[in-house]
Amino acid sequence: MRVAVITSSDSGYAGKREDVSGPVIEELVQAAGYEVVSKTILPDDYEALKNALAGICDNKEADLILTTGGTGFSPRDVMPEATAAVAERMVPGIPEAMRAYSMQFTKRAMLSRAASCIRKQTLIVNLPGSPKAVRECLEYILPELNHGLEILLGKTGECAR
Ligand code: MTE
Repeated sequence: MRVAVITSSDSGYAGKREDVSGPVIEELVQAAGYEVVSKTILPDDYEALKNALAGICDNKEADLILTTGGTGFSPRDVMPEATAAVAERMVPGIPEAMRAYSMQFTKRAMLSRAASCIRKQTLIVNLPGSPKAVRECLEYILPELNHGLEILLGKTGECAR
């Protein structure tokens, strides 16, 4: 499975802050056997994020896009809106699960507006911005994503265990 990583961060894009969360995603997905095909840092800009997400899906560059950042309440946090704008089908269960699981670490998990959707044959999942939150969320959802991706890609229709 091919993964594209997108970091939404004005300061990261401007080179004022090191992107720590993108590399955490890379580390975790590689350990799970995924291939990271691209890593992109973009400003917290609706159009830029929307175009990047749609481009990866439409050009079949990745099976899974994992984003980090831009899910909070800052006026510049627009990752869920960019994700919804490119959605063909929403996947509410993944962010619901992340938030529910994350409440044991911090009740502020309820403040993440992360979204998830499918466009063509690519699954998009928003993760929060901090490396700690990325690790907590991704370690929890990653084992189940493979099954969803296999169904999305037509590699299995079987859900039986
Ligand atoms: N989820 C987990 N698992 N761990 C965390 O520390 N931080 C929360 C939340 N989700 C957090 C978390 C906080 S403090 C915020 S403000 C939101 O994610 C949004 O983060 P973002 O704006 O960096 O995307």
